[in-house]
Amino acid sequence: MTRIVPMTAAHVDALMPHEREMFGTEAWSRQGYLEEVGEGGTRYYVAAESDDGDLLGWAGVMIVSGVVEILTVGVLPEARRAGLARLMLADLLAEARRREAREAFLEVRIDNDAARALYRSEGFAEIGRRRGYYDGGRVDAVTMRKSLE
Ligand SMILES: CC(C)(COP(=O)(O)OP(=O)(O)OC[C@H]1O[C@@H](n2cnc3c(N)ncnc32)[C@H](O)[C@@H]1OP(=O)(O)O)[C@@H](O)C(=O)NCCC(=O)NCCS
Repeated sequence: MTRIVPMTAAHVDALMPHEREMFGTEAWSRQGYLEEVGEGGTRYYVAAESDDGDLLGWAGVMIVSGVVEILTVGVLPEARRAGLARLMLADLLAEARRREAREAFLEVRIDNDAARALYRSEGFAEIGRRRGYYDGGRVDAVTMRKSLE
């Protein structure tokens, strides 16, 4: 059984070798992750672990003033299409509701069909487009929203 647990520095070390390959120009640094995970007041990060405690995926949000923003979701290639991203997203949104968030937003690359399908299937609607959001102005983002009420 997969477990969803709070993200630790050990998870950050385990994910770093995969970050560049999975997120390309949007990759975060180890220091960036550690700062994010340490911002407990406005952030919530989780990891998905196998039975053996191996890292399979991770995800995080920022929750401020009744709004939750999905900051990152990643699943290792060998663990995909098994519902892990869906599971982590449900956990993040449950925490956001506990912190009284009323709506959720995210940006996703326009060419990321897997992520757009994931978010649509979880009830997010595409509400707009931000031109040149990624890759130094070359790739657009789609903004998506879901009501938590
Ligand atoms: C996007 C990503 C997080 C999905 O993770 P995952 O654990 O494979 O997703 P799930 O198994 O929970 O999939 C849930 C639903 O999303 C959709 N989906 C996921 N991957 C898909 C794909 N490759 N093609 C089409 N739909 C896809 C499907 O609707 C799927 O439900 P189904 O399997 O019952 O059809 C993963 O592909 C990933 O890490 N990609 C690289 C990093 C990234 O792009 N992150 C998102 C940044 S916004």
